[in-house]
Amino acid sequence: MSNHIVIKKKIKSFDKKIKVGSDKSISIRSILLASQAVGTSKISNLLESEDVLNSLKTIKKLGINYKKKNKIYYIKGFGLNGFDIKKNTTINAGNSGTLARLILGLLVKSKFIVKMKGDKSLSRRDFSRVINPLRLFGVNIKSKNNSLPIEIIGTKFLRPITYNESIGSAQVKSCIILSALNTAGTTIINSKPSRNHTELMLKSFNYPIKVQKKGQIDKIFIDGLKQFKSFEYKVPGDISSASFFIVLTLLSKKSKIIIEGVNVNKSRDGIIQILNRMGAKIKVKNKKFYKGEEVADIYVKSIKKLNSINCPSKFNSSAIDEFLIIFLVAAKANGVSKFKDLGEMNKKESKRLDLAVKFLRLIGIKVERFRNNINIHGNPEITLSKNFEIMNHLKDHRIFFLSCIAALTLGGKWKINEKKSANTSFPDFLKILKFLGATIN
Ligand code: S3P
Repeated sequence: MSNHIVIKKKIKSFDKKIKVGSDKSISIRSILLASQAVGTSKISNLLESEDVLNSLKTIKKLGINYKKKNKIYYIKGFGLNGFDIKKNTTINAGNSGTLARLILGLLVKSKFIVKMKGDKSLSRRDFSRVINPLRLFGVNIKSKNNSLPIEIIGTKFLRPITYNESIGSAQVKSCIILSALNTAGTTIINSKPSRNHTELMLKSFNYPIKVQKKGQIDKIFIDGLKQFKSFEYKVPGDISSASFFIVLTLLSKKSKIIIEGVNVNKSRDGIIQILNRMGAKIKVKNKKFYKGEEVADIYVKSIKKLNSINCPSKFNSSAIDEFLIIFLVAAKANGVSKFKDLGEMNKKESKRLDLAVKFLRLIGIKVERFRNNINIHGNPEITLSKNFEIMNHLKDHRIFFLSCIAALTLGGKWKINEKKSANTSFPDFLKILKFLGATIN
């Protein structure tokens, strides 16, 4: 089967209700925490994407069994440090930065060396951000240039740390939290706010973890070595997956969508805040709390006039994976939109800030770039008629999704490569687009 798609027509107006794929961050965390619980956890609605399947394969390699029955995953844990690690174990995190960084936190007591590798994209990403705090715990790590492959060997003499997490990275914060679970004493993280699913999940198990807001910082206290029981978890929809359908609807003519059961946790809802400031009128209804997470239905209508935004950097963390698609809205907005301090975008599955600038210029949008700040000169009248080909060398799933939404809303004839990259986070993406009426070959 070919690994590209062709889109030659804009999508016609639609009025539909959909569900998107389950949350990837929560799916991975639920697997990793189930592997540390005492007893068999039951996880429903787990995202069956490559990153998540690699998480299941990883815990299996580390001696944790699971089975799937009637769409529910049963994972049998033996408590903290309950892995059964064999000599010469190699784990493969594939494309997933979240799996790679979080699992290291659970290997801090490993008696044998565990080697971790990943795909081409993951192998060019920086791991110093987790290697540094792990070494402070006393863990031994070998890696060339702070990147994969990494070899980790744990220690019996772990010491709790106090760490200033200044990137605003949930992966770093969560790696430290997971290391702290296995470390006697209280670990303290002074963390620049980022998605807080790990903290919420642990709190829902009554684990002794405390979060205090101190101005712009979250001060997190984790007591180590407290066992927790197996749990049940129903994973909600992923706002990062929903974001592509939100923008598809906004930029299409006379269309409406309801996206049901999406996680709208405040640490993730930056896209809604930003787009509403641009005049989008997105509504979040039927909010319910589930184990500390907020889950709701998202209502979106197409809109004729979008305003530019001077985007406050306080939204950078809660919209970090959504800026690619937000930039497409800025390309159609009236006026110059300004985004700043987005260097972290270049540290993702591909150099997303560099690629976004290239992409916007390719579709004829004027962009000014000053280091990690960009100004996008919107063109509300933009319609495309040329041929475009998107190569996507590092197989970044979000570059694939962005290209599809641009093709379906702006016109032109598009050949978009690396169709399989959708499987990283959202295998049903193209199926849902077709359900909404898109013609995709
Ligand atoms: C994630 C955190 C974010 C995000 C990534 C998933 C997570 O990365 O970009 O897609 O699940 O913790 P950083 O923590 O590195 O910002």
